[in-house]
Amino acid sequence: MTQKVFPISSARAPAPPHDGRPLVDMLGRGLRDLRISVTDRCNFRCVYCMPREVFDRDFKFVTHDEVLNFEEIARLARLFAGLGVKKIRLTGGEPLVRRDLHRLVALLAAIPGLDLTLTTNGSLLPRQATALAQAGLKRVTVSLDSLDDATFRAVNDADFPVARVIEGIEAAAAAGMAPIKINMVVKRGVNDAHVLAMAERWRGTGQIVRFIEYMDVGSTNGWRMDEVVPSAEIVKAIGARYPLEAADANYTGEVAERWRYRDGAGEIGVISSVTQAFCSTCNRLRLSAEGSLFTCLFAQQGHPLKHLLRRGAADEVIVNEIAAVWRARDDRYSEIRTADTAKQHKIEMSYIGG
Ligand code: GTP
Ligand code: 5AD
Ligand code: SF4
Ligand code: SF4
Repeated sequence: MTQKVFPISSARAPAPPHDGRPLVDMLGRGLRDLRISVTDRCNFRCVYCMPREVFDRDFKFVTHDEVLNFEEIARLARLFAGLGVKKIRLTGGEPLVRRDLHRLVALLAAIPGLDLTLTTNGSLLPRQATALAQAGLKRVTVSLDSLDDATFRAVNDADFPVARVIEGIEAAAAAGMAPIKINMVVKRGVNDAHVLAMAERWRGTGQIVRFIEYMDVGSTNGWRMDEVVPSAEIVKAIGARYPLEAADANYTGEVAERWRYRDGAGEIGVISSVTQAFCSTCNRLRLSAEGSLFTCLFAQQGHPLKHLLRRGAADEVIVNEIAAVWRARDDRYSEIRTADTAKQHKIEMSYIGG
């Protein structure tokens, strides 16, 4: 199997000039966040993301030549910042398997007015946290699906221990990154019994655990609705032990809903993209490792920019293209999800980075 089965809208006429007005899509949403996937590779094989039987030795990952280099990514990031992007999140696959990622962090950290962050499985943080922090990375989000070692090893399917991810979180904290967010994808019958232990482990530490509803991203994880644990159930279970109160969003369009411990021991978040879709405020654009834009996590088609970068296009030509892609955007997949849409051929999470 190869990822390149995804059609891309190429060979279009040049986009019309961007007139400088704030970018708004077809549903009135502005562009605020850019998620940049720096690689489609990962050293884990999480069962809900890169099942080993699909992502095996024969799987055709994007090749070295096809991946944008750091200078190309940084150039695009500067253009996006000029278009109003306020936050850039580096993702993968696993972003830390990309060699010398701290070099890219340094290039992006030099762009004024950007909140720069990264989502990682944490496995390589013990080695890289200091270099990343020195390059200007101020926060990080680490995925960790259970504190129970046997469960975690079974989910990541790489026999990777919990203790080493915790070491990574601690290395990031010691390097000054704060707060660290910890993402737990909750799947019924797999790790739903471990939700309270996860909340307890990070209560009072300053770090923020977020519980994520299992989504039907891609076409390989065999998603079923009855495996989704609704966030309301999680808030109720944790709140029964440690009373919680709703907290306001940090910014319009924040993905996580925030809940604060009433006793002052910090907060948790829940991400309810299945039971309470948040498409109406979705201000996120995604850039794949090979340089295509995706206007939704569940997109079936990308819009390439790499040919422009590599054929020497002027900045304004690239800006026009980005503006045209955003203005034509009408995605709202999570609002229209059904059992049938879940079966559609969609971009893989490991390709587009969540
Ligand atoms: P911060 O608010 O800065 O912490 O970032 P974040 O919560 O957007 O980023 P993170 O990478 O931690 O994403 C958390 C979860 O939300 C992941 O499972 C993502 O796939 C999911 N997610 C993020 N953005 C979207 C989105 O636009 N649509 C959907 N459906 N899910 C999203
Ligand atoms: N549903 C929900 N979240 C997922 N992630 C990966 N696959 C899925 C899925 N099917 C999470 C990762 C990571 C974040 C970027 O997305 O665990 O924390
Ligand atoms: Fe890798 Fe993250 Fe996917 Fe797990 S969820 S396989 S760590 S990209
Ligand atoms: Fe945005 Fe698509 Fe997610 Fe809806 S499903 S919030 S449009 S990325």
